[in-house]
Amino acid sequence: MVLKLELSSGDASAASSDTLVIGVFQGQVDSHPSVLSIDRALGGGLLEHAKAVEFDGKSDQTMDIATLGKLKARRLLVLGAGEEQKFDAARLRTFVASAMRAALGSQVRTVALVLPRDHADARTVGEGVGLGCYRFTKYFTGDRKPKTELGKVVVFGAGKSSAADKKAADLGLRVAGAVGLARDAVNEPPNVLYPEALAQVARRIAKEHKLKIKVLDKKGILAAGMNLHYAVGQGSSNEPRFIHLSYVPRKKKKKLCFVGKGLTFDSGGLCIKPAPGMGEMKSDMAGAAAVLGLMAAVAQVKPDVEVHVIVGAAENMPDGDAYRPADVFTSLDGKTVEIINTDAEGRLVLADALTYAVGLKPDVIIDAATLTGAALVALGKSCSAFYATDDDLAAGVQSAAREAGESFWRMPLLDELSEQLKSDVADLKHTGDRYGGSITAALFLREFTGGLPWIHCDIAGPVLAERARGMYPKGGTGHAVLTFLQLVEQAAR
Ligand code: BES
Ligand code: MN
Ligand code: ZN
Repeated sequence: MVLKLELSSGDASAASSDTLVIGVFQGQVDSHPSVLSIDRALGGGLLEHAKAVEFDGKSDQTMDIATLGKLKARRLLVLGAGEEQKFDAARLRTFVASAMRAALGSQVRTVALVLPRDHADARTVGEGVGLGCYRFTKYFTGDRKPKTELGKVVVFGAGKSSAADKKAADLGLRVAGAVGLARDAVNEPPNVLYPEALAQVARRIAKEHKLKIKVLDKKGILAAGMNLHYAVGQGSSNEPRFIHLSYVPRKKKKKLCFVGKGLTFDSGGLCIKPAPGMGEMKSDMAGAAAVLGLMAAVAQVKPDVEVHVIVGAAENMPDGDAYRPADVFTSLDGKTVEIINTDAEGRLVLADALTYAVGLKPDVIIDAATLTGAALVALGKSCSAFYATDDDLAAGVQSAAREAGESFWRMPLLDELSEQLKSDVADLKHTGDRYGGSITAALFLREFTGGLPWIHCDIAGPVLAERARGMYPKGGTGHAVLTFLQLVEQAAR
């Protein structure tokens, strides 16, 4: 079912939805118009109850109330929206998403949502609604298969909404759909989402939005000279794919090239990973998912920026044909690389993809990869590490992430660690010491960026969540799609 989104300025207490959700700023419980009208409908019980449970609108505070026939809505949820002064676009998006998640239930077909203030930023509201409604249920059968589906959301704000607001809200929903595409790809099991299946996802995006697409299969990858990418994929019967999607508008202010790591499963190869947690490596294509989701979003927003998306897809498996430590391969760029640890496969696939990106002569290259456990050790599970070749680029990432409500922290490209990548038999070793592992991975990648302006995002932590938080659901989060979309929209300004 397609979700219908309506904007309304009417009286929310009369809304005939299954669930009615009201957002309230801190300290504004007894002055919020909808709270007051619902309080009257409930015979004064709402404000009394709020006092009794000390609800005052602090961020994440919740009152869950059965309306017992006194309202048209069966369930009333009052949610704290925190301090009004801090309620920026990112908070609005997060608030709406968590409100939707809280409102959903097995019997819920319609939700009415009252914002703590008017829907001036209708696109962000639409994004929040779509992000909060996401579920991944395709493999449930029987009782766990959802019986009802949410069909309609009515968002109430203080002011009147225009036709332009409605259009913006619908665009927001479609942007959320693009994030959902990235989440789906991460959530799909690796026996279903192998490299060719990832290429199919890209082909579907291309077809829907009439974008140019090029896909190379195993033979094509070898013929093109992408020997590092080929090596990583050679141990799997699920053959590798190279994917290039382009969005070329008539007017273009900049050319951006996004590159994603698409390891549909990373067992570690011959340097096999320990069993606990190995299943999480189905998310090792989250960089690819992020840039494909980005492309789906870009095709909706249609900015005046040329955007290229490149994905190196492969499965890293141990096998008689698998690549080994001590092997030497010649990259697309011509540099020779000595393999140290077959579990450091991501940087090999990316190296050839980056070289290909350099050939497109973009203004900036941005890559996204679940590249190192070291990034997780450094910043934890909620924040991505990023590297930038200059301060202006870095500032751009920081402001994009702030707008998107995502967490990115800049790391240094420490030249003194480059020594670790010197090889006795080839131009480069592909890994360094354990310490500074995220940095040496970035330094290895930098060798293949042709000196172009470049941003590297090690997104290993936030792409897969153990529990729902803010706008992210449990499982695949779609992290980085919105930040990258902001980067593209920045370039269009
Ligand atoms: N995909 C992993 C990195 C990773 C680890 C992502 C944990 C998410 C959670 C990557 O391919 C890898 O295995 N990296 C190695 C590199 C090492 C062998 C130099 C790592 O970080 O241990
Ligand atoms: Mn690995
Ligand atoms: Zn990996």
